[in-house]
Amino acid sequence: MLTASAHGATVPVIGFGTWNIQGDACARAVEEALRVGYRHIDTAAGYQNEDAVGSAIRGSDIPRDDIFLTTKVSPDDLADADLQRSADRSLAQLGLDHVDLLLIHWPSKTIPVAHTIRSLNRALERGVTRFIGVSNFTTALLEEAWAATDTPLLTNQCEYHPYLNQDKVLSACREKGMLFTAYSPLAREGVLDDPVIREIATRHGRTPAQIVLRWDVQQDSVVAIPKSSQPANIAANFAVFDFSLTDDEMAAISGLSKSHHLRVANPAAVAPVWDD
Ligand SMILES: NC(=O)c1ccc[n+]([C@@H]2O[C@H](COP(=O)([O-])OP(=O)(O)OC[C@H]3O[C@@H](n4cnc5c(N)ncnc54)[C@H](OP(=O)(O)O)[C@@H]3O)[C@@H](O)[C@H]2O)c1
Repeated sequence: MLTASAHGATVPVIGFGTWNIQGDACARAVEEALRVGYRHIDTAAGYQNEDAVGSAIRGSDIPRDDIFLTTKVSPDDLADADLQRSADRSLAQLGLDHVDLLLIHWPSKTIPVAHTIRSLNRALERGVTRFIGVSNFTTALLEEAWAATDTPLLTNQCEYHPYLNQDKVLSACREKGMLFTAYSPLAREGVLDDPVIREIATRHGRTPAQIVLRWDVQQDSVVAIPKSSQPANIAANFAVFDFSLTDDEMAAISGLSKSHHLRVANPAAVAPVWDD
């Protein structure tokens, strides 16, 4: 398993996403992910599955310190007291005494970034989390966040797949020594029928999803968090460490965003004015 390092953290480059899956189905999926080797799990207060994620982690025989666990604070909870309450509620739901990474899920349209980032720093000081970061932050919001933070921000978690060019925000993250966590890395299956990706998959004897995930983790500072509820897909999405793509193949996949522009997560109530 490959890891990426930044600001003192070591993060497995393939994590397991858990959006849109709850209860027993979520617990079973996380158990399966841990069984096949994932050591990085992504949840959020808003996913309403922290109880299931926590029970799968607590029920496994994997030492807690071997698992990198992320949760997120929802946009309605970004005032200081609300953020601290949300973080504490997440720990109670998870049944754990800390998470590894606490993220601002979406920037607030009403509460200044500096205020939220100072609250996030307070959550870190209280020991709720080992690292802090952001999600869905544009380059402009990143500048504001870095100006306000005492502690380095570990990652910016954003949508990223071959049909969405993220060069601007990726460069900004790299300049700040941050990781870039690719969410919806398969565009919720939206890129899996692409002929260029399918042709490369055939050449390597791999699935289209494996090609896309390999493309992610072969990029500097990029971490990907695919979600699946199917054991076969959970295992296949993690089996991307025993082959590599050529420079031409990497460029061909990156080039797809010149003729496609797809955003699968763009909720009007919270989405910022994107860079792309
Ligand atoms: N920060 C944010 O605002 C934000 C927003 C969105 C997502 N996220 C995080 O990112 C994670 C991943 O994103 P996502 O869930 O939106 O989308 P995704 O991982 O791009 O795609 C998930 C979809 O692809 C299917 N799939 C997975 N592996 C497959 C494979 N090998 N072959 C064919 N189909 C496959 C899944 O179906 P099956 O279950 O049937 O396999 C599911 O329908 C989320 O779960 C969440 O943790 C964060």
